[in-house]
Amino acid sequence: MKKLIVANWKLNPPTPKAALALFRAYSQSAKKHPSVKIVACVPAVYLASLAKSARLSNVELGAQDCSSETDGAHTGEISAEMLKESGAAYVIIGHSERRARGETDELVNRKVRAALRAGLRAIICIGETTRDATGEYLEILRRQVQASLRGLKVSDWQRLIVAYEPVWAVGSQAIGVDTPTNFLEQAIFIRKIIKTLSTRQVALAVPILYGGSVDQRNALGFLSEGQAAGLLVGRASLRPERFAEIVLAG
Ligand code: PGA
Repeated sequence: MKKLIVANWKLNPPTPKAALALFRAYSQSAKKHPSVKIVACVPAVYLASLAKSARLSNVELGAQDCSSETDGAHTGEISAEMLKESGAAYVIIGHSERRARGETDELVNRKVRAALRAGLRAIICIGETTRDATGEYLEILRRQVQASLRGLKVSDWQRLIVAYEPVWAVGSQAIGVDTPTNFLEQAIFIRKIIKTLSTRQVALAVPILYGGSVDQRNALGFLSEGQAAGLLVGRASLRPERFAEIVLAG
């Protein structure tokens, strides 16, 4: 299966022009490495203007969040259907930066359902905030996966991608560095939990990405030794030359 390299642009870049330039750099990478699937999860306001470039390239578009609602009195919300109509094929849901702003597992679960109903592929982020010596974090992870992904049909799982992002290793405030070996262990643990929610087949098939300070130096390790199905890249995705090297690792 093609490795999936997902860029999470977060609240960047500041202008549509800069967004187009970054997207074009991705298209060049995609042309050179057709064996890798690239998804750019961009601020929703850039989707429509990048959609044409996306159609002409092998890079797909995604959003970074969606509403759990479909329409009505929800000021500021953007529905999954609107994202799809604007050119998104994927959406990140339950990113730790959104969970830190109060998003609960229950809301994440409703968003996942809304995204799947609209025909998007959902990239659902999970990961513990801290590590402890007694393994309590595993219980936290278990509860997070169970609550965020409960009640899905077998057919839903085919459009679901899990991104394991240990919060302590994410972003410029990261307090630790994760390793491919640890990722591999966590991925096995996550598949065990998924098995309790679905079937053994689903648990084995669902792609699990690694995210958390991925860069051009550690990408290959997570993909090969860590056996990750792909990567979710934050900061390094804003640097075209670094991102190109990450794609090369795929
Ligand atoms: P980072 O972000 O690569 O900057 O750690 C990853 C993410 O937040 O998805």
